Amino acid sequence: NSKPSYDDQQEIEELISSLPKGKGWHSSGLTLYQNFWCHSKFLPGVISFQRHFLARDSDVLIASKPKSGTTWLKSLAFSVLYRAQFNPTEANANHPLLSSNPHALVRTLELGQSAGHAPDLSGFADPRLFGTHVPYDSLPYSIRRSRCKVIYICRNPLDVVVSLWHFVAQVDAGDRAGGWSGMEEYFDNFCKGMDGYGPFWDHLLGYWKASQERPKKVLFLKYEDLKEDTAGNLKRIAEFMGVPFSDEEERNGVVEEIVKMCSLGSLKELEVNKTGRSIAGFENNSYFRKGEVGDWVNYFSLSMAERLKNIMEEKLSHFGLTF
Ligand code: A3P
Repeated sequence: NSKPSYDDQQEIEELISSLPKGKGWHSSGLTLYQNFWCHSKFLPGVISFQRHFLARDSDVLIASKPKSGTTWLKSLAFSVLYRAQFNPTEANANHPLLSSNPHALVRTLELGQSAGHAPDLSGFADPRLFGTHVPYDSLPYSIRRSRCKVIYICRNPLDVVVSLWHFVAQVDAGDRAGGWSGMEEYFDNFCKGMDGYGPFWDHLLGYWKASQERPKKVLFLKYEDLKEDTAGNLKRIAEFMGVPFSDEEERNGVVEEIVKMCSLGSLKELEVNKTGRSIAGFENNSYFRKGEVGDWVNYFSLSMAERLKNIMEEKLSHFGLTF
């Protein structure tokens, strides 16, 4: 089972060691690369992905900043795209989502890679469904050039920070939550743009602009909208992917079945999501917490919230993006 390998491993390592560093989680911190802060641990994989991934026109990519609803969107997109193969309507005990974590089914392309190795994707049949956290402008050229489709999910950054903080506390627990003095310090770095794949405003804007310029290529979703009308947005996702629900499917309740199967309550209770680890090495249960809109009110002082809201207003509202 040999992976294709390339002779650029040393060059990648030298490049990374020459780049600016910042504090992150995973102990290893962040590296500033192509104007975004990348978890240093994952950067070799990001560069290999950029250099060696070849998109196909039939590919679908789930893109997000971490903690924006990636796991949820992956499970929804998987259920929709492969519903002819895996029937989500019967109490189908064989549905892959009941026995595999969504990240195992929809692989994040830059994770689990080492420098000098291209992702081994030989086991994936068309249409392929993948994930990525890489900013739009840093995606492999073949993704931007081909007709493959990208579905982006974003979330109110206030809730993203809260979600991230809990995630960091869990996955970096052995390292006193990555060496952070507390949530205030973590929040401060986030507001300065220093967090994984951030600044968050650049990440959002890259995909937002692409969705405005190329609406058939990039679908831009918000976690909050998906919560408010999951079924309606699921139909948008299906249409966008080129596999709309038929009238008969709608009459038979397929949309509702998928919504139910992919709900936080259902996924969280599955044995597979209570145990084991993802390809990135994180515990599967760390991807499922509260899933609420506005949880930030329980964590931020008014002045903290005001600070982040002002940044969002300043960076995003000019482009018609609000939360
Ligand atoms: P909270 O920490 O606010 O609960 P990601 O998948 O991008 O890592 O994002 C994780 C966030 O999405 C967590 O938010 C998690 O609880 C929430 N989430 C995971 N699965 C979900 C689902 N099926 N429906 C709604 N939210 C979900």
